[in-house]
Amino acid sequence: MIVKQICCIGAGYVGGPTMSVFADKCPDIKVKVVDVNTNRIEQWNDEDVSKLPIYEPGLSSIVSRTRNKNLFFSTDVKKAIQESDIIFISVNTPTKQYGVGKDMAADLKYVEICAREIGKYANSDKIIVEKSTLPVRTAEAIKDILENSQSEFSFEILSNPEFLAEGTAIDDLISPDRVLIGGDYHTESGKKAIQALKNLYLNWVDEDKIMVSNIWSSELSKLVANAFLAQRVSSINTISELCEVTEADVKEVSKAIGMDSRIGSKFLNASIGFGGSCFQKDILNLVYIANSYNLPEVAEYWNQVIHINNHQRRRFANKIISRLYNTVSDKKITLLGWAFKKDTNDSRESSSIYVADHLLNEQALISTFDPKVSEEQIYADIDAVNSRTEIENRTLLTVYKDPYEACKDAHAIAIMTEWEEFKLYDWQRIYDAMSKPAFIFDGRAILNNEDLIRIGFKIYTIGK
Ligand code: NAD
Ligand code: UDX
Repeated sequence: MIVKQICCIGAGYVGGPTMSVFADKCPDIKVKVVDVNTNRIEQWNDEDVSKLPIYEPGLSSIVSRTRNKNLFFSTDVKKAIQESDIIFISVNTPTKQYGVGKDMAADLKYVEICAREIGKYANSDKIIVEKSTLPVRTAEAIKDILENSQSEFSFEILSNPEFLAEGTAIDDLISPDRVLIGGDYHTESGKKAIQALKNLYLNWVDEDKIMVSNIWSSELSKLVANAFLAQRVSSINTISELCEVTEADVKEVSKAIGMDSRIGSKFLNASIGFGGSCFQKDILNLVYIANSYNLPEVAEYWNQVIHINNHQRRRFANKIISRLYNTVSDKKITLLGWAFKKDTNDSRESSSIYVADHLLNEQALISTFDPKVSEEQIYADIDAVNSRTEIENRTLLTVYKDPYEACKDAHAIAIMTEWEEFKLYDWQRIYDAMSKPAFIFDGRAILNNEDLIRIGFKIYTIGK
């Protein structure tokens, strides 16, 4: 099968970067990214690439060299479906906020809309690729919708989950650990579809890194990969608490266990709890699926990962309160970092939101600075927690554009995100302008304790 054009429905954190790399690596193929969000598409089309809707190192230069050559952003979903041989679905699959499965299951309404639109508009046979993270057996539902769509064309459904992490998305896409393609390898049409998708990746990925599996294994593997990664973070976070009461140092423990090649050294950084749009959502979904197959022990096992994450966030906020003599009312506390990790402007499910909320409930005056997250987004995040009115949030929480201003007169500073620039600040200048005693709560263990103690700071470091 010769593929001339592909499209992706959903121009978000996955659709945008993924399709940019496809366009860059497959110059003979036309790539269209479509979205119902006109504002987002306008931003993708902005001549000034510093205004792209997503901040991701290396992304703007790829967009600059491919956009309007073989990479196009548009709101015309119908046209993109009709023109394309392969259609990727990369829409959001958030935790359901209503009805059966509320707060647990993945909300598949956006995926279902895509399936119905493909059934309605397709004017030739199509390969449909699930890029979104989906519950195991979702392909069955997509197939059912398409088979009942009265379309005269045939559709082959593949699962091709995306494993990129934000902040390193471009590197992850260019040099993936593996590419997973799930499909029906027992039928001729299934085999052809798998090969067509594989051929796209072969433009830059070694064949031995492309794994083909059945579709259910592929769908499930994505949830399981995220669950295992999140489990490592929760595991080391439990140990951080134990270190704090035993005078062990979690960094040393991480290094010691990580040197065991069976354990491996990655994903062992203690923190204020994992954030991001994926880990919590995907584990909740795994728990929901296990329960729905009547596997309560499996569900409870994975639920503990979330339980520990919430505990770690609360524990960090409570540590700030207890060290500040058990009251933070009317004290200025500066949160450095709002993004859920460095090198991204994404703050979805960031621990900063929950720590800020906890401290605001104690009537603290919160100041915050993040190099990439906008003021508008920070207020939207705190409003979404629904703990107080929008007016109260704007009175109690101040967003600064300058880190030194954010820290001026503060009683305490908390490091929430591991941005590199925080290590390079003039900490003497910050200390001089703070209320005394001046506290630092390093939730990412990135600062040099000895230097700061010498300046005069009182320091708490996670896991130390
Ligand atoms: P996102 O919210 O950034 O983007 C999704 C986009 O889809 C939005 O812009 C939305 O407007 C659009 N959309 C929704 N319904 C649509 C429709 N019917 N037609 C056209 N556009 C529509 O989400 P994301 O972070 O890119 O995640 C997308 C999927 O990828 C999710 O399933 C997520 O779990 C998965 N995933 C995300 C990451 C990540 O790091 N963010 C990594 C791997 C996998
Ligand atoms: C994750 C998966 O890594 C990726 O494969 C998947 O496609 C999407 O979900 P992402 O959420 O973008 O990626 O970032 P990740 O690097 O996994 O970090 C998630 C959270 O865990 C962040 O808040 C990060 O700070 C935290 N984390 C990560 C730790 O606290 N300690 C660690 O050692 C690693």
